[in-house]
Amino acid sequence: MNLPEDKTSKTLQELGIALPEQVAGLFEEVQSHFDAESSKDFIEILWKEFRDEWLGRKSGVLSQITDNWLKPASPELKRAVGAALNQLRARVEAKIEERRLSIEATEEKWSLTRERVDLSLPGVLRPVGSHHLIRQVLQQIEDIFFSIGFSVVEGPEIETPYYNFEALNIPEFHPVRDDMDTFYLDLPPSSDGKDAPQPLLLRTHTSPMQIRTMEKRQPPVRVIVPGKVYRRDNPDATHSFIFHQVEGLAVDTDITFCDFTGTIEYFVKQFFGPGVKTRFRPSYFPFTEPSVEFDVSCIFCGGSGSAAGGGACSKCKGSGWIELFGAGMVDPAVYGFVKYDPKKVSGFAFGMGIDRLAMLKYGIDDIQVFFQNDVRFLRQFP
Ligand code: PHE
Repeated sequence: MNLPEDKTSKTLQELGIALPEQVAGLFEEVQSHFDAESSKDFIEILWKEFRDEWLGRKSGVLSQITDNWLKPASPELKRAVGAALNQLRARVEAKIEERRLSIEATEEKWSLTRERVDLSLPGVLRPVGSHHLIRQVLQQIEDIFFSIGFSVVEGPEIETPYYNFEALNIPEFHPVRDDMDTFYLDLPPSSDGKDAPQPLLLRTHTSPMQIRTMEKRQPPVRVIVPGKVYRRDNPDATHSFIFHQVEGLAVDTDITFCDFTGTIEYFVKQFFGPGVKTRFRPSYFPFTEPSVEFDVSCIFCGGSGSAAGGGACSKCKGSGWIELFGAGMVDPAVYGFVKYDPKKVSGFAFGMGIDRLAMLKYGIDDIQVFFQNDVRFLRQFP
């Protein structure tokens, strides 16, 4: 700012200017100084300084010129100074306004850039879980039974011997109890020390819910009972101390063995596909009479018994059949425990292992994977 400051603080007389012709040169000098300064890059704060420097009321260059050049000028010079000053003022004001607009525009552009939401940025990944395969298979089973009028009931995993055994026609010293390696609970006596809690156990099957359901409802009864069951089995590829069952129970005044086999066949074909065949073999359960074991034609070899590469199918050991689950017509003795009239009602029951059905359907050869929670396994069933 040296040039105008030096000169604008002096009067024309002090600058040695006496003739109107000299005025133009002097203003040209100021103007070219202004042009040089105004073409520099500046941001808003500097722009304000620049504006005050030139247009400031007290000490701006233009006020200085007015005070020091115009006002004290001799009448001969005043016209020329006035005209040149007006021209300079117009130029300065126009240019400063122009710079203001351009700074504003740049600011706006920047703030838009700053505030822009970048939708292409990857978001925070929140992994979504999925149902465990056992749960998925249970839902498939439920859907099939829903479609033929069954509903779901659930019951306690801690049971009394009465519901787990006695009411199912398994008296205390019946040898079949030995087949069910039961977990008995060793509960401490109650706090008042009086009545010691009755013996309790972890249910070995979902069949106790047959009794609990019939105690509560009158026929017709058509329920399935999914749930966890426990047995003192040593873990291996097909045994686990915890596994899952779905119990089924249908009781009415006119249910026949044909209803029973038809229902089971319908379920198996819905679950495994229409191509599979079923058969039943005589079996024994204290709470069904007659009792059967249902088999399904081997899903792996198509029932042929021979493996694709020759030799016997390893899954069904060459028989072409795979054991599926136990079932039977409800033993009339059971109705006695729930005050149903065995002369009036009849029905069937079945108990299938969900884990086993899942293993067969999805070709899983180790039951332990269901309980290990290894995501590499779980992720295969999204
Ligand atoms: N509760 C029997 C079991 O766990 C299965 C079964 C249920 C058999 C219902 C017949 C009727 O082995």
